[in-house]
Amino acid sequence: MSGMRNNIILVGMMGTGKSTVGAALAEKAGYRLIDLDQQIEEEAKCTIPELFANYGEPYFRDMESAMLSRVLQEGGVVLATGGGAVLREENRSIMLEQGWVVALTADLESILKRVGEDPGRPLLAGGAKERLTVLLEERKHAYDFAHVKIDTTGKTPDVLASEILMHYR
Ligand code: S3P
Repeated sequence: MSGMRNNIILVGMMGTGKSTVGAALAEKAGYRLIDLDQQIEEEAKCTIPELFANYGEPYFRDMESAMLSRVLQEGGVVLATGGGAVLREENRSIMLEQGWVVALTADLESILKRVGEDPGRPLLAGGAKERLTVLLEERKHAYDFAHVKIDTTGKTPDVLASEILMHYR
């Protein structure tokens, strides 16, 4: 891990537990938790569904890239990213340069249980199951660049945080 900053970056599909595992992980590691989507909402002064609806996805993606490099500058951060933050090559490079990247995975069933019919996720509008099935297929290799992959199925955030730290230290 030489040369990289001491950040732990969680990537993975929506509903793989990035935010909940991130919180447990930050607590255990004594790192600061940053939720990328939350930072974007604060900066934009509106919600993610509003950003998508009013400005479109590319605008959101530009904010996401800008915010990503900004929040990793300090180090000592556990960063929970949004599921699509890995889509740009530029973002993947930043993550690999600025931290240790952990991909969380889960099967469709567990993801559905976690996201429900959450209106806070514009990409799931019109039917979470159908949209997630398509996205899982489209993004099946999107998280392969991560340093490590962790299957979250049936595990609590606390157990997952310990498992991740075992790989880290
Ligand atoms: C997205 C995932 C969301 C959020 C936005 C787009 C995606 O984050 O960034 O709705 O493209 O997968 P979560 O993974 O936290 O749901």
